[in-house]
Amino acid sequence: MFALFFFFIALACAYPNRGACTGDCWTHDPSMIQRKSDGKYFRFATGTGVNTMTSPSVKGPWTDVGSALPNGSSITVSGVSSSDIWAPDVHYQNNQYYMYYVLSQIGTQNSEIGVATSKTMEPGSWTDHGSVGIPANSEYNRIDPNWIEIDGKNYLNFGSFWQDIHQIEMETPLKVGSSAAYQLSYNATLNHREEGSFMFKNGDFYYLLYSDGIAGRYTATYPAQGEEYHIMVCRSTTGTGGFVDKDGTACTNTGGSLLLASHGQVYGPGGQGVVNDNDLGLVMYYHYYPLATKEAGGKGNAGYMYSWNELGWENGWPYVKAT
Ligand SMILES: *[C@@H]1O[C@H](CO)[C@@H](O)[C@H](O)[C@H]1NC(C)=O
Ligand SMILES: *[C@@H]1O[C@H](CO)[C@@H](O)[C@H](O)[C@H]1NC(C)=O
Repeated sequence: MFALFFFFIALACAYPNRGACTGDCWTHDPSMIQRKSDGKYFRFATGTGVNTMTSPSVKGPWTDVGSALPNGSSITVSGVSSSDIWAPDVHYQNNQYYMYYVLSQIGTQNSEIGVATSKTMEPGSWTDHGSVGIPANSEYNRIDPNWIEIDGKNYLNFGSFWQDIHQIEMETPLKVGSSAAYQLSYNATLNHREEGSFMFKNGDFYYLLYSDGIAGRYTATYPAQGEEYHIMVCRSTTGTGGFVDKDGTACTNTGGSLLLASHGQVYGPGGQGVVNDNDLGLVMYYHYYPLATKEAGGKGNAGYMYSWNELGWENGWPYVKAT
């Protein structure tokens, strides 16, 4: 009886192994997209001029091909190098690729979201267009952009800590107009640790994924167990509000359902996104910190690795499926 009870507990908490990766598997806050012309995968990451890796499949072999913006951004954020670019988010529209990116002074609201375009995504092919023009506001931090089209309109989701995840309607994919930003998700406890949002549509719902908990700096002092990064999910029929978790709790009122947390070698998974792979269907990709690296004393951000898992569906909610 007891054995059975613990068996079911273990089953409920278990996650399948991470998907395989060969080649260069380093990443940090990845954004992944398949090129229309030849199906080649591009994986972008936080790092000098936006690190760019390519591969024939989600599994690899991945190759580091250089920086998207080797000359940095035209945005000036005081105390930040113009090539210290974070959290890229890439999509395809109007026969070209758009990359949203961030310049930010860590731990402050001294941040700005910019955009660049390219026809090919090759390193150095990006044209920088500077800031998208989201007004500064003490309620949010202008980092972790994520674009989505809803009913033919462009929206940018963004935010981290302070009042958590926000959304703003854009006039064009390059600029916000006079629209004001509004909140999509908020955790009222502690330090309001939601960031790195990613939204996608499946069936009748828009799904909002975000990273909850303490990101990175997994070097000397590690967060208490469970407080490291983990991936949460909320859903809504409109994509512009009304997000709830599996229990129906509003995600603006500390709602949110767990999708993936630390397990096995995967410590602190986050910075996630979703691609619709031709062979595998919906795949969630993310960064994690290998447990072995943590146990060996840590390597900071240089220790992050890329992984992925197929998404399965149950009652309209995604779960991480074994590949
Ligand atoms: C970077 O700047 C150098 C010097 O101004 C210029 O020659 C080069 O074309 C620039 N590269 C890109 C990719 O814009
Ligand atoms: C809200 O934040 C607390 C403290 O960080 C955390 O324990 C909890 O899981 C969070 N809840 C949600 C729904 O993200």
